[in-house]
Amino acid sequence: MKSTKLFYLLFAFLIFFTACKENIQKEEAETVVTTPLSLKSAYKDNFYIGAAVNAGQINGENTSASAVLEREFNSITPENVMKSMNIHPKVDTFNFELPDKYVALGEKNNMFIVGHTLVWHSQLSPWLEQIKDSTEMANQLKNHIQTIVGRYKGKIKGWDVVNEALNEDGTLRESVFLKVLGEGYLAQVFEWAAEADPNLELYYNDYNLCQSAKKDGAVALVKKIQDSGAKIDGVGIQAHWSLKEPSIEEIENSILAYSTLGMKVMFTELDVTVLKNPWDLQGADVNQNFEGDPTMNPYPEVLPDSIQMQLAKRYEDIFKLFLKHQDKITRVTFWGINDGQSWLNGWPIKGRTNYPLLFDRDFQPKKAYHSIMALKDSRK
Ligand code: XIL
Repeated sequence: MKSTKLFYLLFAFLIFFTACKENIQKEEAETVVTTPLSLKSAYKDNFYIGAAVNAGQINGENTSASAVLEREFNSITPENVMKSMNIHPKVDTFNFELPDKYVALGEKNNMFIVGHTLVWHSQLSPWLEQIKDSTEMANQLKNHIQTIVGRYKGKIKGWDVVNEALNEDGTLRESVFLKVLGEGYLAQVFEWAAEADPNLELYYNDYNLCQSAKKDGAVALVKKIQDSGAKIDGVGIQAHWSLKEPSIEEIENSILAYSTLGMKVMFTELDVTVLKNPWDLQGADVNQNFEGDPTMNPYPEVLPDSIQMQLAKRYEDIFKLFLKHQDKITRVTFWGINDGQSWLNGWPIKGRTNYPLLFDRDFQPKKAYHSIMALKDSRK
């Protein structure tokens, strides 16, 4: 009799113990879920976190790349597939296969889809570059813009309408568009884009936009477009930066300068080179050939820890500033998903090993990733 009682008691205790254990495990699982697991969830209340994607990634050729893209990012930009020479290679030929897949990828993942870029002197279709007559140029450019914007109307939410129209001193670049159409082309192309999709965000995008002379040029350019009555919504600061430049103060001044004009500010091509570039070397001839020069490619195998730390600190400082001005910044896009894919392995010197992004060549998060995630850790 006694032993039966003991048996029941033991049985009841066991049930109680199992229930408690399950409850604890459930609570633990819930805690894990509420901690940010990705960049996009960590920064969801601040700004979009984007990545530029290349053709292979659009085709889903690398499963690690796809996994990181889907887990970490909520915006995409096409690295090359929508540039004039690729999307519109001949006067009457548009190449929509990859651009369509690109847009489908963004839609499938519920991402803010960016178009890059409609009017740019570089990677320009040769047939367009050869037009000398202003009426012909205007007709072709309008057709180019409206065909592409129209096709993705309502799907692509923001376009880099004009890319890199400025010289370093802030004057207008002598591009084929300026030469053939005169400076009125700037406002005109914004109008054509808005006509094709009135709800689209329209951006001016350029590099070195934090440097004072070029910044003044960009401010003047935006004002001119605004004064003409055309719609412009944002300035894209490309943000191809280095460990030291531009300074946080310069970046802050430019955020303020563009947002004062009513512009949404976005960092559209962020990467931080850890390598020297020809123009950093005093007296170096930029045209000098540095290809194969080992002093210009000091980390061919692995990035030393000390530089990894500097990169993490640089990203931390940059993102602290972005958070400070989150009310003015709508998007921060990295120019690539991982280091192996970065264009900086081949530019401005071919065949180097650079480490400018947040994920390493094996798609693992680097110290820089953790440093910007830590800024959003609510337990701090
Ligand atoms: C770069 C791509 O990353 C490269 O793959 C390509 O060979 C050249 O163009 N500014 C821009 C981007 O607006 O389109 C450029 O992208 C980098 C500089």
